[in-house]
Amino acid sequence: MRFLSRILFILFALFFTTAHAANPVTLKSPDGQLEVSFEVVDGVPYYALNRNGKPVVLPSKMGFTLEWRDDLAHAFVLKDTKYSTFDETWEPVWGEEAHIRNHYNEMLVTLEQPVGSVESMDHSTETKTTVMQIRFRLYDDGLGFRYEFPIKNALVCFWIMEELTEFAMAGDHTAWWIPGDYDTQEYNYTQSKLSEIRNLWEAGHKNGGWPWTAFSKTGVQTALQMKTDDGLYINIHEAATLDFPTMHLDLMENGKRKIENSNSPFVFRAWLCPDATGYKGRIQAPCTTPWRTVMVCDKATDVLASRLILNLNEPCALEDVSWIHPVKYMGVWWEMISGKSTWNYTNDFPSVKIGETDFEHATPNGTHGANTANVRRYIDFAAANGFDGLLIEGWNVGWEDWYGKQKVFVFDFLTPYPDFDLPALNKYAHEKGIRLIMHHESSASTGNYERWMEQAYTLMNQYGYDAVKGGYVGTIVPFGEGHYSQPINNHYHYAVVEAAKHHIMVNSHEAVRPTGLCRTWPNMIGNESAMGTEFRERIHPGHTAILPFTRLQGGPMDYTPGIFEPDMGKIVSWGKRMNHTICNQLGLYVTFYSPLQMAADFPEHYEPYMDAFQFIKDVAVDWDTTIYIMAEPGDYIVTARHPKISTLNKAAEGVGTLSDGKKGVISNATRFVYAIPDDNSNVRINDLTPRDVWYVGGITDETARDVTVKLDFLKPGVKYEATIYADGPDACGFAGDCFDEKEMAEGHYPTGVTYNPYSYTITKKVVTSKSVLKLRMASCGGFAVSIREK
Ligand code: NOJ
Ligand code: CA
Repeated sequence: MRFLSRILFILFALFFTTAHAANPVTLKSPDGQLEVSFEVVDGVPYYALNRNGKPVVLPSKMGFTLEWRDDLAHAFVLKDTKYSTFDETWEPVWGEEAHIRNHYNEMLVTLEQPVGSVESMDHSTETKTTVMQIRFRLYDDGLGFRYEFPIKNALVCFWIMEELTEFAMAGDHTAWWIPGDYDTQEYNYTQSKLSEIRNLWEAGHKNGGWPWTAFSKTGVQTALQMKTDDGLYINIHEAATLDFPTMHLDLMENGKRKIENSNSPFVFRAWLCPDATGYKGRIQAPCTTPWRTVMVCDKATDVLASRLILNLNEPCALEDVSWIHPVKYMGVWWEMISGKSTWNYTNDFPSVKIGETDFEHATPNGTHGANTANVRRYIDFAAANGFDGLLIEGWNVGWEDWYGKQKVFVFDFLTPYPDFDLPALNKYAHEKGIRLIMHHESSASTGNYERWMEQAYTLMNQYGYDAVKGGYVGTIVPFGEGHYSQPINNHYHYAVVEAAKHHIMVNSHEAVRPTGLCRTWPNMIGNESAMGTEFRERIHPGHTAILPFTRLQGGPMDYTPGIFEPDMGKIVSWGKRMNHTICNQLGLYVTFYSPLQMAADFPEHYEPYMDAFQFIKDVAVDWDTTIYIMAEPGDYIVTARHPKISTLNKAAEGVGTLSDGKKGVISNATRFVYAIPDDNSNVRINDLTPRDVWYVGGITDETARDVTVKLDFLKPGVKYEATIYADGPDACGFAGDCFDEKEMAEGHYPTGVTYNPYSYTITKKVVTSKSVLKLRMASCGGFAVSIREK
């Protein structure tokens, strides 16, 4: 009977397909250059993407395999195709520009598996049709598509075993990739041809984060940046990953594994991160999956300018965003990272039980960084230099045995160490115009964090903290989960949503790499979720010239730049040398977008170089216009940015609203834009007119470069003063301590160079829109320029 009904179904399906929907169906981008086509071949859905007639994605399969039921992979009929178009300009709460255009053409295809065509263990498909829709949005700079499951459906609650979405590449492109992993994104990138991924994959793990949990010798993560031999930039990522696992990619090479129905030599298959039971998504209709994205650009600078990922996210979910503001901050942090001081307060306890261990009578170890006197020292320095905030890590009990122990009850996020006077320090900070930034290291014990979250956020409200840095170091608890499974992705989101109820901004480290959710939840002001500065000498040259193409596509990164003493051997005997010059670090404040930007080094490391530190003081962190002047992944980036005046002093104004907060604080970036002298604190900004100001930054990898920057973005006929912070003639940021001898020999890295990261020049000159700056970036160097209307 069932066999007969299948035959009947196939005949019916053939008739229906030809009678009711063109197959393939196509959609063009607004400028007509990109075209996506979709068709059902023998019941299997396929899509393809062309640019000006040339394939970008060759015909690629779509669908899912499911538990307890026939897959969403065959027996499909194309039932309906709907087209629409959309064009709006929206204003982000913070960002790289004040206005973002969201302009796309859309095609929604409705697919059905008719009654009788598939089987289910619970017989639920016997009386109803299974419906899966695929929504394609085509922009001038790329494609987004997602699966949708309406409620009128045989499928209501179901379990995904695999996502079958493929991205069939048309050639052996160059790629910048990190190994696919369920637990960490903290890797250096490898630049290679797709055909080389398999052989280089093991080496790709070197110097990475911990714990790492690989799934395939050809697995890579997104955002995956590629470049074709014809010079086209293709980037695969995802947008709006909510209530769904993260998508990695597994490369299937023709000849090594059989690729059906494809003449593509290199096919990426979606690889979802499983939960503890192996499922890759527990789905409840009505619902949609995240968007799968393929960005396609002619120029590298267009990749940086693309807002594809943000546009595919939902508009802001918060009615009141007045409490969200950009933050430039310092921290009692690098001390612990560098080994100078410790997070823990005592060495008395090999084992801590929160609520039982007696810290009041413990012996202080003398190395605890978050002690009241030291924190005051940082508050003084941050306030004197016009910062907005100060992060303090190691303030709360539990750091004695927090790491690598798989403890469930590891922190309570409430109890300070005896030498950290939480109320007094907040009062002291607010009086000086500084907000303290809370730190919640969960040690990846997500359930424990959720248990304490409400009290922890309430404590923050009580003392006027309005931002928290979260952390997820180590093995995820509940055990068996990875960092990017559906339940744990839901945890990160829960933390952000609950924080918003308390008017708290969130910056999570080790959480899932972002997918543009900050558009919807703009209190998500930062994430680490990639190899950041804490990796020190292990960071390869060129790393920061890759991240804006990859990790930053989904949202800002708390990269924590500003290390003026990169020779860590001067701090601790085991320290090694980082690969950058001081001017490279200055350049990052412009090339790397984040509304939360840190000056990460110690005050005493800035003090000898206060003239260079001036740029970090002066630079803004939120922008109304950005121009990507030149870029090449892994090589160099030069960017110009114009500050957004409306948010320039927002953090400082917020401090004044606290009971013991200082009124009328002026941040240093505001001073710079309004040309307010350092010794004048009695001005009202509203009485002043801002000057026209631009900042330009550049960074390079191990190759020294000469660059020419035309200042044609300045207002014509206006005179500006430019302050140029450039690598000195003898500057060199390349140390090479991240490579062994063999790598140095094979890697075409500079040899025989003298490490001198401290050399810089500062020049002031009058410039106009006709001026052209000629700048030299040293190996692992860079430059920064502040330009203010005279
Ligand atoms: C890792 C984070 O990336 C780092 O910034 C933090 O200091 C440590 N975890 C401790 O929470
Ligand atoms: Ca980290």
